[in-house]
Amino acid sequence: MSKKNKKRICIIGMPGSGKSTIGRILSEKLNYKFIDTDNLIEKNTKLKIKEIFETKGETYFRILETEALKKQVGFNNIVISTGGGIVIHNGDILSNFYNIYLNCDLETLISRASRNKSRPLLTSNIRKKMLNLFNERKELYNNISDLKINASDDISETIEKILEFLKDD
Ligand code: S3P
Repeated sequence: MSKKNKKRICIIGMPGSGKSTIGRILSEKLNYKFIDTDNLIEKNTKLKIKEIFETKGETYFRILETEALKKQVGFNNIVISTGGGIVIHNGDILSNFYNIYLNCDLETLISRASRNKSRPLLTSNIRKKMLNLFNERKELYNNISDLKINASDDISETIEKILEFLKDD
């Protein structure tokens, strides 16, 4: 198999794993363009993700999510932070990117999600729902990822680790 182009980076992982923050900082360090698929969807629809789920449903959101990702194919020097569910339907599109999986321990994910009420899939019974999402998706994250990084630690340490991996060929 030919080597993946590390200049087209997608950040994947569970909600609360730090995809947006880490993706943004990484893009700045690399001097790459930064895209956050959720932000792009919100900008294009002028609706919050939560409102899209409430008024149009998850299926509609997933279509917008696929479109947002598809638009980035072919660009170099780009870091894309994705929503936690991007791996459900988009394995083919993701194969165009170097996918970095931010693997975070469940307690950290649960405590972060408990402080942020903007996630429509995690508004109540957060522990149970987080566990269900993780069990449904862990295999997808593992299979799709080109690099799996422990992201439970300090953000700057996580970024340093990623930069090290991007260096070697
Ligand atoms: C989702 C995660 C969210 C957002 C939407 C659906 C998911 O993004 O895309 O609420 O299915 O896990 P984050 O992973 O940034 O929270």
